[in-house]
Amino acid sequence: MSSLPLSTATTPPIAPTMRAWLVSARGPPTTVLKLTTTLPTPSPKPTDLLIRISHAALNPGSTSLMLLIPQFLRAAPSIPEIDFAGTVVAVGSSAPSQFPIGARVFGCLHLKAMTAGKGVLADYIAVSSDEAGVAVLPESWSFEEGAGLAACGITALNMCRAAGMQEGERVLVNGASGGVGTMAVQVARAMGAKEVVGVCSGRNVEMVKGLGADEVVDYQAHHPVGEYLAERYGDQPFDRIFDTVGVQALYSKSPRYLKEDGVFINVGAYEGGWRFVLNGLRNLFLPRWLGGTPRKFIGLGVPSTNEHAAAIAKFAAEGKVKTVVDKVFDLEDVIEAYKLLGSMRARGKIIIRIQDSDKTK
Ligand SMILES: NC(=O)c1ccc[n+]([C@@H]2O[C@H](COP(=O)([O-])OP(=O)(O)OC[C@H]3O[C@@H](n4cnc5c(N)ncnc54)[C@H](OP(=O)(O)O)[C@@H]3O)[C@@H](O)[C@H]2O)c1
Repeated sequence: MSSLPLSTATTPPIAPTMRAWLVSARGPPTTVLKLTTTLPTPSPKPTDLLIRISHAALNPGSTSLMLLIPQFLRAAPSIPEIDFAGTVVAVGSSAPSQFPIGARVFGCLHLKAMTAGKGVLADYIAVSSDEAGVAVLPESWSFEEGAGLAACGITALNMCRAAGMQEGERVLVNGASGGVGTMAVQVARAMGAKEVVGVCSGRNVEMVKGLGADEVVDYQAHHPVGEYLAERYGDQPFDRIFDTVGVQALYSKSPRYLKEDGVFINVGAYEGGWRFVLNGLRNLFLPRWLGGTPRKFIGLGVPSTNEHAAAIAKFAAEGKVKTVVDKVFDLEDVIEAYKLLGSMRARGKIIIRIQDSDKTK
């Protein structure tokens, strides 16, 4: 018998079973994901919030896990994706009191939750504070926007923090039109960067300028982009470079456009899983006298906490960041959504509508 709590006056009844996409094997999401409609709705443990998910967002990292992890190492059932917005519908006896039943929240899961099989392409999720960074969604934000806020916003925040970015600095953001890049441009601005230069394809130049970039470089028109950056910015090098794509040549050429005491941070795995790992090891450990690039390199993978989520929620409430939404898909159309993600041409976030409960502004 289900131990789910009864519904309350402020939330709809909690269904005993739910819809969820499950990872059925190792492979690309377009072939290994199966939709079920009969998964038991999780019961919250004492430290958990039970959240009815309104909208979720896709992230390339989840695809990497589907491709890399053998099925025998995967928890069963295993639901993909980490980014969500929804309503708290039940709370455990010792869950954090700032998220009462009825609270509109957003957040993203940690690796720990993902390895336990938890994911957000489902009607409900039960999570504790050590499994996800969660915050109250600003009043003026829709669930659709909130779903795309946490993973990329927090990654951008962590990039600025880890790089030690100071007010008045000059910052370059590679991949400025993607999920992380659109947030990195805005968060760098919100944290006081004097000048932000974005790199993206020509079709997205105006969109990135609209987010606050002073200049935008079209990497397709200026190929190879490292040479162009050296010519254009060699005499006024950047303080920090945030690579959200993972272009190794951008780092190896960076001494020509990054200050000697500058910092280069990469979060992207554009050149593939093993290349990403090998490049990261080389950039971190190869001594300069053996050909290592003479600039500080940081490869980032920081879990999101409630503090991170609250910090990005504050920027959102103040109008300093917004979610750029490329396209919204219904839960049943997730495979189409993954095809768009796999194109590596998404503009901002790909959102999955799970309920029709969105609050429009
Ligand atoms: N470590 C972490 O904490 C963390 C967190 C989140 C994401 N990530 C990783 O960060 C990466 C980006 O994630 P995302 O969500 O931003 O992906 P995304 O939304 O799919 O972004 C893809 C973007 O990459 C741009 N792009 C493609 N090729 C490019 C190139 N050669 N030069 C410059 N830009 C290029 C595209 O812009 P155009 O169409 O304009 O070319 C597109 O907007 C992924 O590898 C993801 O796994 C890491």
